Amino acid sequence: MLDQRRKQLLDAMGIRRWVRRDLPVQVSPEPVLEDVQPVGDLQPSPSGESPAKDWDALRTQVAACEKCALHASRTQTVFGTGDRTAELLIIGEAPGADEDRQGEPFVGRAGKLLDQMLLAAGYERDMVYIANILKCRPPNNRNPASDEILACSGYLAAQIAMIRPKAILSVGAISATSLLQTDLSVGRLRGEVHYFGERRIPLIVTYHPAYLLRQPAQKPSAWLDLQLLMRVLRGAA
Ligand code: URA
Ligand code: SF4
Repeated sequence: MLDQRRKQLLDAMGIRRWVRRDLPVQVSPEPVLEDVQPVGDLQPSPSGESPAKDWDALRTQVAACEKCALHASRTQTVFGTGDRTAELLIIGEAPGADEDRQGEPFVGRAGKLLDQMLLAAGYERDMVYIANILKCRPPNNRNPASDEILACSGYLAAQIAMIRPKAILSVGAISATSLLQTDLSVGRLRGEVHYFGERRIPLIVTYHPAYLLRQPAQKPSAWLDLQLLMRVLRGAA
């Protein structure tokens, strides 16, 4: 991509300066999550039907799912969107109000910033796959509860197994702590390559775009994370 184009995209992301990789990055601590239980390898939850192994069947199964209490308050499930054969899988937290209304992940304000972040990394939205840890909106956008994450985890595991991405970008604390079975903050987890699951899919953690909208000073760090992701996808990290 031309430097000029990338500069425009970084401006759109709200990053006005190039960041030197050799400079230490100031990271202010994110709130630590208290009620998130790790979900292992995102194995199918012990109770209930196992996730379908065929994409359309899985989508149908999710649309009718009542495995956790969130089914009662959702408008519709939000399965995921994009290229089912994508090399890059983005995993967010859960649908918000806009996503619950439209049935698609990351369509609100945070989604617009995510689109710009992806473009800065050289990806149109439809070139990647975008999914969430939870397929239903938690009421009032509260944090997902650990039993909800566990109940939903088999669906995401099935999606990952079918997409077989070359890399995963985990955005935000709920996504990162659930996928990596840790309670460390995003500030601690970002900046290095993790590996997800038995297939050891390279996984990069970065800030959630909604957090970046509140804390724009962290955008240069997010850009460093995207650069690391690009190196991983090129096979250079
Ligand atoms: N935030 C998320 O984590 N996912 C969405 O789909 C929308 C907002
Ligand atoms: Fe089912 Fe997941 Fe929705 Fe809970 S959040 S009802 S487990 S699809």
